[in-house]
Amino acid sequence: MTGRIANPKIEKLIVDRWSPRAFDGSEMPQEDLDAIFEAAGWAPSAYNVQPWTFLYARKGDANWELLLDQLIDFNKGWAKEASAIVYVVSDKYMRSEKGNSENHSHSFDAGAAWVLAALQAQALGYHTHGMTGLKFGEAEAALGIPADHRLEAAFVIGKQGDKSSLPEFLQEREVVSSRKPIAEIAKAGKFA
Ligand SMILES: Cc1cc2nc3c(=O)[nH]c(=O)nc-3n(C[C@H](O)[C@H](O)[C@H](O)COP(=O)(O)O)c2cc1C
Repeated sequence: MTGRIANPKIEKLIVDRWSPRAFDGSEMPQEDLDAIFEAAGWAPSAYNVQPWTFLYARKGDANWELLLDQLIDFNKGWAKEASAIVYVVSDKYMRSEKGNSENHSHSFDAGAAWVLAALQAQALGYHTHGMTGLKFGEAEAALGIPADHRLEAAFVIGKQGDKSSLPEFLQEREVVSSRKPIAEIAKAGKFA
């Protein structure tokens, strides 16, 4: 229960998803992570090309520090207490035997996959927190991401921790956010 007020017709899982920064520092089983990735993979995508790749490390894995190090310091400060870190990468091209063509919706589709991952994590009792506070430019090289792919964002997964574990300035920000009214985000017909 987050206290968010929303139309009761909306799925509870959607309204209850929010992004804390206080995580409890526990480890998470690979089976849970696999279920989260499988859920992400059920996202729809143009021509079903499934342009996403998830690069991940669980706390304690050999790659944990490498993946954490690609975050800006602000994010690393709290994200290190999460249980897993995931980088979302998309393939910019649709590939076939006839040749490659640009995929207009590679980022859009990867975004859909991340949201399903976030909701599946929520359903399993975890929280996620998306981040674009990354060392873009350096991170692609450190993670071996080729130029025909795009590093979209990262997210962490973990069990919510006590906000007293955060520095004071972040404790104040450990609250659920609201949303724009529908009239501002949906227009019947043309944009303008
Ligand atoms: C693509 C993306 C990038 C984000 N980058 C950061 C970030 O670098 N650092 C951070 O603390 N939060 C980051 N956030 C979290 C957002 O601020 C948060 O999702 C937003 O305020 C809505 O709050 P909610 O997720 O709790 O509903 C990011 C979220 C998304 C989806």
